Amino acid sequence: MHITKIEFLKCVYQEYQFPKQELPCIAFAGRSNVGKSSVINSILKKKEIARTSSKPGKTISINYITINNKYYFVDLPGYGYATVSKKMREDWKQLIEQFIERSKSLKCIVLIIDLRHGVDDKDKVMIDWMKEIKIPFIIVATKADKLSNNLIHNNIEAIRKIITDKIPLVPYSSVNNRWTSTLWGEIDKYLLS
Ligand code: GTP
Ligand code: MG
Repeated sequence: MHITKIEFLKCVYQEYQFPKQELPCIAFAGRSNVGKSSVINSILKKKEIARTSSKPGKTISINYITINNKYYFVDLPGYGYATVSKKMREDWKQLIEQFIERSKSLKCIVLIIDLRHGVDDKDKVMIDWMKEIKIPFIIVATKADKLSNNLIHNNIEAIRKIITDKIPLVPYSSVNNRWTSTLWGEIDKYLLS
């Protein structure tokens, strides 16, 4: 996609704050601290449009970025951070469910995983849930810069075996941006079709 304008729209903490305008939307989901915000910044070539942190559990809101006044990129709060209270976990779940219910124009979820660790139990729950509610998704295995080419290949093959179906699976690195055009290719299929 040719990008002419990127704007941070808003952080949504509660249902009444969701944007009134419906735009075709791509949401980024995954475990806390896995690198969701970094993937967004990397593909948009904007350093801090999505806030990143080395401390897990930082993004506790749903963050909307408007692209070309035409699309939303949405940074979802991460799941699976162990020391978060049960109440906080339930609030997150409710907010994400409200987001899904409201987002008629949600085109695809980009599920981010760590290529070093692959798909864990919480990711499997997320994958099953996306399948159940029939939301198209792609899997992006990030932090590939921490692995050799051999390991990148092996780990991708291992993940492929677990997810079985023909779900798009892209290795990624927000540090060296090596697969940016591959990921854009996948996203464009949903946004431009
Ligand atoms: P939460 O919003 O807290 O759930 O985290 P997040 O999933 O948005 O992760 P974030 O993008 O904030 O990155 C977490 C940490 O991982 C930061 O210290 C990043 O610098 C680091 N990181 C993210 N992507 C990469 C990557 O591709 N390679 C390397 N080496 N580090 C990365
Ligand atoms: Mg984040």
